[in-house]
Amino acid sequence: MKKIVSLGRGGSGKTSFLALVAKYFIEKNATPLLLVDIDPDQNLGEMVGVDLKEEGKKTISELLMDTFLEGGGTTVGVAPSQRIESKIWEKGLYEGEDFDLIAIGTKFIEGCYCLPDAALKKALEGLTKTYKYVLADSPGGLEHLNRRITSKVDDIFDIIDPSQKSFHHVERAYKVAKAVNIEFQNFYVVGGHRVPAKLETEVKKRIKLKYLGKIAFDKEVEDYILLGKPLLELPSSSVAYNSVIEILKNADY
Ligand SMILES: Nc1ncnc2c1ncn2[C@@H]1O[C@H](COP(=O)(O)OP(=O)(O)OP(=O)(O)O)[C@@H](O)[C@H]1O
Ligand SMILES: [Mg+2]
Repeated sequence: MKKIVSLGRGGSGKTSFLALVAKYFIEKNATPLLLVDIDPDQNLGEMVGVDLKEEGKKTISELLMDTFLEGGGTTVGVAPSQRIESKIWEKGLYEGEDFDLIAIGTKFIEGCYCLPDAALKKALEGLTKTYKYVLADSPGGLEHLNRRITSKVDDIFDIIDPSQKSFHHVERAYKVAKAVNIEFQNFYVVGGHRVPAKLETEVKKRIKLKYLGKIAFDKEVEDYILLGKPLLELPSSSVAYNSVIEILKNADY
């Protein structure tokens, strides 16, 4: 089993990238996959055509609220992850033909994401099903790295946009990942759809990490996202999809 995480600044294209990676693995029959949405502002589900609510499933945050608030439980003195782990697999996991999906969800109570993070982390550590790939979609920025939900991964794909800040983001992301002891094999840099092709030489020069190429700008992808259509349904001629395949091949997938 290989674990893959997307990183990047807000709006750089992390979620669409991951959805296209999922499409590739599905078409290659490299399944089953587990998709993990770590972004509280969840939209990985939408991009792969799964509405957890419609499927009768709950996010980790919802399960925690059910267990500890509405259920009258208390968060004091218990390791909440222990009480919630079995519920996560039973009530939180969407199981599809090619992939399963789980989402951390939005927390409507005060305080940090410690509880949902701990619960998800524990659940992921106790994975019983043998997935070929686990694909985790991150929220923008770096804060979630400190949350260490995924402390052991194989490949990190950092999607950059064309800005000075993005170069700094990559350096910081790499440093933070190291500093908080996230174990990883490869830290790859990917040009987002807004990176102009002529900037790629500059990117390669400025960034010491392996640059895999850029995601092509694709009006069709933009339209699908706008309409809430799953990216898995894009035709195989999609330029963005084909650019993602190239990127994956450059990372030996
Ligand atoms: N290949 C593409 N071609 C053209 N537009 C794209 C492409 N990929 C994404 N977009 C556009 O960029 C927007 C952001 O993409 P996406 O949601 O994948 O980014 P993100 O990094 O996950 O954002 P967030 O930080 O909000 O989670 C999309 O809503 C879409 O309009
Ligand atoms: Mg996203």
